[in-house]
Amino acid sequence: MSVHPLERRWMAISVLLVAVMGGLVVYTAYASRLHPPSNVETIDSTRLHLTAEFAEDHLGVERAKDGTVVARLVMARYMVHPQEITLPAGTPIVLRVASADVLHGLHVVGTNIGTQVVPGYVAEVHTTIRFDSVAKYGTANPDGSVTVPLFCNEYCGLGHQSMWGRVRVTRP
Ligand code: CUA
Repeated sequence: MSVHPLERRWMAISVLLVAVMGGLVVYTAYASRLHPPSNVETIDSTRLHLTAEFAEDHLGVERAKDGTVVARLVMARYMVHPQEITLPAGTPIVLRVASADVLHGLHVVGTNIGTQVVPGYVAEVHTTIRFDSVAKYGTANPDGSVTVPLFCNEYCGLGHQSMWGRVRVTRP
């Protein structure tokens, strides 16, 4: 069976395209630190307020004994709780996010923090914020910190576009 030269050429092009796209995934994973957050940890989204971790009093930022900063957020139509958190740049941080109702998405401008927040699961993101990166997109505060917006990037209903919060990033 012979393959027409033109067909052979298009076969080569399609293989090349797949290789280029695969290469881009690997390149951005290293160069831009883009990687899918994965954390299979289940939680009862209807009872978040009764859990030890995601009760209202425990939301916000906490520094663990080993120096890691842990931020806990609850996303619910159409709010992010708490509305504002303060995170240090240049320090390893862990974000733990749960949805109280439907699918939401969390994106923090100027950082690589981006994850789906699936009801029934705890979304966890490990990262270190680069101050120069948030400074490029954020608003400078008098104390030298920078505030960047945090928003929902999964359509979750009529109020989706008003699901915003703020992250104040302090200098390392
Ligand atoms: Cu929550 Cu869109």
